[in-house]
Amino acid sequence: MAGALGPLDACVHFAARIEPSESMRVPERYSVNNVAASLRLFESLITIGCERLLFSSSCAVYGNQTQMPIDEDRVPAPHSPYGQSKLMVEDALGWLARRGRLRSASLRYFNAAGGTAGHLERHRPETHLIPIALEVVTGRRDHLDIFGGDYPTRDGTCVRDYVHVSDLADAHARAIDALGSHDQLTVNLGTGTGSTNLEVVDAVSAVTGRPIDVRVVQRRPGDPAEAVAGGSRAADLLGWAPERSTLREVVADAWTASRAQWPSASVVLALRGSIEREPLRSARGLASAMSPRSDSVLRPRAGS
Ligand SMILES: NC(=O)c1ccc[n+]([C@@H]2O[C@H](COP(=O)([O-])OP(=O)(O)OC[C@H]3O[C@@H](n4cnc5c(N)ncnc54)[C@H](O)[C@@H]3O)[C@@H](O)[C@H]2O)c1
Repeated sequence: MAGALGPLDACVHFAARIEPSESMRVPERYSVNNVAASLRLFESLITIGCERLLFSSSCAVYGNQTQMPIDEDRVPAPHSPYGQSKLMVEDALGWLARRGRLRSASLRYFNAAGGTAGHLERHRPETHLIPIALEVVTGRRDHLDIFGGDYPTRDGTCVRDYVHVSDLADAHARAIDALGSHDQLTVNLGTGTGSTNLEVVDAVSAVTGRPIDVRVVQRRPGDPAEAVAGGSRAADLLGWAPERSTLREVVADAWTASRAQWPSASVVLALRGSIEREPLRSARGLASAMSPRSDSVLRPRAGS
């Protein structure tokens, strides 16, 4: 396939299956699609003389770390076949770089989020927190499930590091250039600041001015409690620092992109009767947010 594209200076390899929880159920999909297909792609790229590759790696390579933030020297220990698939591709790229076959940058994204004019975050099926929260506020979904309320974090929900897609795009442009003088790079792309799931939901409520019906349900297999980026390679090697990645900016841009895509959101809300419904619950009202399914999940923690 790469041959059909003609000569290429560089390839940016985003394609993958992306769900850690799915990978726990059907790991073979991840070894075939994320690993085997990537290796075939690399062979094609080498055949046509493409010299630089950017690989969308993931903080999932680090697995369930307890010390935050996580810098690039931390020994990877993937907790899911998804994370393992990313690490296996990174390892293969290491050999290709060391043998002078293909230069590459493995960019370990933390949580890509936000939006730009005309481009909103969307997955099929949607599994990401901010787009789902926006589906709720625009009436396209009734409520938002949060997977696990008993993690050892400040409010019991998972902590993630949200980095704006515009900042990620900037890092990619810089990484292509950096491969002019490096054979291989492995770089974290995050902000160094973690937000809990409930903090994200609160930010979406604050930005949109609408409350969100939250239900805390069972943990999802494959989810680490925390993932917050550390390390200075992005600054040192790429001259990169996030500029649009405060949680509020990420959410505000996601909301702007979502409204552009769904301009009739208020009509949807009205049609579904959401406006007249009993006022939706706040993310902070955890006790009232619990669904019947979550009874066994949320327990008062010591000292809380
Ligand atoms: N979104 C994040 O927070 C995040 C975090 C870390 C890493 N990543 C990585 O970034 C990349 C993009 O993620 P995303 O969030 O945009 O997910 P996404 O699901 O929107 O994009 C992945 C795309 O790859 C396509 N794809 C999968 N297998 C393919 C194949 N064999 N051939 C061609 N296309 C294929 C899918 O159809 C999908 O359109 C992925 O590699 C993902 O693992 C994303």
